[in-house]
Amino acid sequence: ASAMWINGIDGGLKISSERVVPFLSRPALPALLLPSGGHLFSSNAICQAFVDGLFCMLCVQPALLQALHMAVLQGKATEASKILQGPLSYLDQCLSKGTTPCLTEVNYDICAVLRSLALSLAFAPPGEWRCVQAWFERLAGEEACQAAVLKVLPGKGLEVLKPFVQRQPAPASSQQEMEAAALTWSRGLTACTEPPEKSHPILPQEGRRNLLLTSALPYVNNVPHLGNIIGCVLSADVFARYGRLRGWNVLYVCGTDEYGTATENKAREEGLTPQQICDKYHAVHAEIYSWFQVDFDFFGRTTTPKQTEIAQDIFWRLHERGFLLEDTVEQLRCEGCRRFLADRFVEGGCPHCSYPEARGDQCDKCGKLINAVELKNPLCKVCSKTPIIQSSKHLFLDLPKLESQLEQWLDKSTAAGDWTPNAKQITRSWLRDGLKPRCITRDLKWGTPVPHPDFKDKVFYVWFDAPIGYLSITANYTDQWEKWWKNPEQVELYNFMAKDNVPFHSVVFPSSLLGAQDNYTLVNHLVATEYLNYEDTKFSKSRGVGVFGDMAKDTGVPSDVWRFYLLYVRPEGQDSAFSWADMALKNNSELLNNLGNFINRAGMFVTKFFEGCVPAMELLAEDKTLLAQVGWELRQYISLMDKVKIRDGLKHILNISRHGNQYIQINEPWKKIKGGDQDRQRAGTVTGVSVNIACLLSVLLQPYIPTTSRTIREQLNAPAACVSTMLHAGGSFVCSLPAGHAIGTVSTALIAFVFKRLAGGQVKVKVGFIVNSHPKYLQDE
Ligand code: 2FM
Ligand code: ZN
Repeated sequence: ASAMWINGIDGGLKISSERVVPFLSRPALPALLLPSGGHLFSSNAICQAFVDGLFCMLCVQPALLQALHMAVLQGKATEASKILQGPLSYLDQCLSKGTTPCLTEVNYDICAVLRSLALSLAFAPPGEWRCVQAWFERLAGEEACQAAVLKVLPGKGLEVLKPFVQRQPAPASSQQEMEAAALTWSRGLTACTEPPEKSHPILPQEGRRNLLLTSALPYVNNVPHLGNIIGCVLSADVFARYGRLRGWNVLYVCGTDEYGTATENKAREEGLTPQQICDKYHAVHAEIYSWFQVDFDFFGRTTTPKQTEIAQDIFWRLHERGFLLEDTVEQLRCEGCRRFLADRFVEGGCPHCSYPEARGDQCDKCGKLINAVELKNPLCKVCSKTPIIQSSKHLFLDLPKLESQLEQWLDKSTAAGDWTPNAKQITRSWLRDGLKPRCITRDLKWGTPVPHPDFKDKVFYVWFDAPIGYLSITANYTDQWEKWWKNPEQVELYNFMAKDNVPFHSVVFPSSLLGAQDNYTLVNHLVATEYLNYEDTKFSKSRGVGVFGDMAKDTGVPSDVWRFYLLYVRPEGQDSAFSWADMALKNNSELLNNLGNFINRAGMFVTKFFEGCVPAMELLAEDKTLLAQVGWELRQYISLMDKVKIRDGLKHILNISRHGNQYIQINEPWKKIKGGDQDRQRAGTVTGVSVNIACLLSVLLQPYIPTTSRTIREQLNAPAACVSTMLHAGGSFVCSLPAGHAIGTVSTALIAFVFKRLAGGQVKVKVGFIVNSHPKYLQDE
C-alpha cells in the first residue's frame, strides 16, 4: 500500500498532504478516513473498502478504454460517447448512494482521463449524471488531481492520450468480430501470394504504388551519431522495408553530402585533399549503415559528374526563366589563406555586447545574430591574420517571385500527403515571415561549379546543391532516373529528415524545382523527427558526448538491439532521449521478457510436446477472442505504419506478444499436456495458435529487427508466403503454420543479448562502457 493516506470517501475523495492521523504521532500505518469521520486501521478493512469502491471504477474502465480507443485511435467520437452512456449512469448511481469509489493515487490518472474525456466530448448533457459532474468538479479542485491532469493533459485535447491508450490492451471484441477473425484465420495462406520480387533497376510500374524514399544526405565529414541515424536513414529504412512487405514498389536512395567549407576544413585538418576526405568518410558512412542493416537500394554521393550535370541544368533553367537575381555582398577575405571566410571561420568582437570571441554568424554570449563584416577586430580562425572586406557579386534565388506558386503546391501537398506536424508548422512559419531572395553561390573551391561566365570562380551553396543530390544519386543508380524524378503522376516522394532540415525540403528546394519547370516530382510526404538527446544532454561531436555510429558496433550490443531501442524511443512527435539504463531495461523487459520469451515458449512447446509438428487446433471462444485481439492490433499497426508512425507501430507488435504471453500463462499448456485427452487437445490448440502468432510477429518485426525476424522464420521453417500478411489493405491474421507443419530447431536464446548488471546498479557493455542504471532497474530484476 502506498504510504500516502487517504482521507475521504464522501462521494469524492481527498488525498491529504498530511501523513498522520490527527491523534497518532507517527505515520506508522496507512489509515482510511471514512465519511463518518472515523478511521479504518485494519489493512483488511481498508482493502475491502477499496475493493468496493474500485469495483465501480473497474466497471467503467473497460468501457472508458474502449471509448478512448475509438475516440483517440479511430477518430470516432460519437460512437465513443455512446459506449460510455451505460457505465457513466452506473457510476452516477454509485456516487449518489455514497458507496463510492475511493480513488487511489494510481487512479488519479484514470480520473484525469475520464474527466478529460467527458469534457472533450462535451459529453454530459445538462442535467444528467449530476453526481458524476459534481464529482468531476470536486476532483478538479483537488491539488493532486490538478497535478495529475497537468501531467497527463498539457492542454492539448485527446491527442495527448494516445500513448496511454496505445499501452492499454485492445478493447473487448464482439461475438461477430470473434467469428470473423476465426473465419479469416481458417483460410490460411492459400489466398496469399508473396510480395513481388525486386526488379533491377527498380523503376515505377503501372498499376502499383510507386514510392520514392530519400533520407537526408548526411554530411560526409562527420561520423553520424545515434540521433542522426534514427532521424533519417534508420527511419526511412523501416518504412522502406514495411512498404516492400505491403507490396509497394519502393526505391530507397541516400548518399553522402560531400561539398562545402566543412569538407575543405576537414581536409586541411587531416592533411588530405577534399576528394580524399570524401572517399575516406564516404566509406565510413557506408560501413556504419550497413552494420545497422540499413537496406538502401542505392547509397551514392554528391561529388559526381551527374551532380554537376543536373545541378547546372536546373541552374540554367532557373536563369532562363528569370528566377535568379544578382546582388553584391560584402565579405571577409583572408589574404593569408587566400580565401573568403565562411561565417564560422572568423572570430572577433561582438558588435552588440563586445564579447571578444563572437563567431561570424552569431555571438555565443548575447546570442544575437551577427553580420560577419560588422565584427570588431576580426581574425581568421585558421591563420589568425586580420581579414579584409571585399565585395563580391552573387546569385540569389528569387523566392518572392516563386512564393505564390509554392504556396499553391504546398496547400495541395500538405492536405493530401502525410506531413508530420512539425514539418507543417516550420513551413508555415517560414511563409508567414515572408520569403526573401536566397544566395545560392559561394566563394569556395570544393563545390559544384557555377556555369555562368560572370561567376566562374564560384560554386553552388551546399543547400542549393545538396538536395539535387537525391536526383543525381538516382541518376547514378539508373540512367532512367527521370522515370522517378520527372513523374509526379506515377510517383509518391517521401523525404525523411530531422526537423532542422525541413525548410530546405519544403520551401527552398521545391521552389528551385518549381522554377525550373521540368515536371519534377515534388515531395508528397515530409517526415521529420524531433531531436534525440543523449542521457540528459545533447549529442556533441566536439565535446565527445554521445554514441557515434562506429562505436555502436564496438559495444558488443547486436545491431538488432540498437535498432529496436532507437525505434522504440524514436523522437516521433516530441524530443526523446537515448539512455543506457533505459536501453538495458527495454532490451530486458520488451525484447527478452516479452517478445523473446513468447516466441521461445511457443516454438519450444511444439518441439517438446508435439515432436516438432504443429498440433491440430480446435478453436474455443477464448481462442477466437485472442484471434480478434491480434487482428485488431495488426490493423492498428498497419494503419499507423501507413502513416509512418514507426514508434507507435512498434507498440502494437509488443501488445500482440503480450496477449500471447497472457494466453499461454492462463492456459498452461505445459500442465495440460500431462492431462487427459481433452486437456492434451487444449494444449495442442494453445500451442498451435501461439506458434502462429510467433510467425506473425516475425513478419511485423521485419522492418525493425530484420536479423531476428529472419531467424525466427527460419527456425519455424515458415513458408515464404507468410510475409504476405500485409499485402492486403487492413491485413489479416491467418493460420500460416497449419497442423502438421514441421518447424525447425528453435534455440532457447533467440534474442541472445542480455545486458549484464554489475553490483552497484551499473550496466556494462563491452569496451569499457559502464553506465549508471536507474535504481528501479535493480529492483525489477
Ligand atoms: O543536415 C544535414 O546533414 C545535411 N547534410 C542534409 C542534406 S539533405 C539533402 F538536401 F541533401
Ligand atoms: Zn587566414
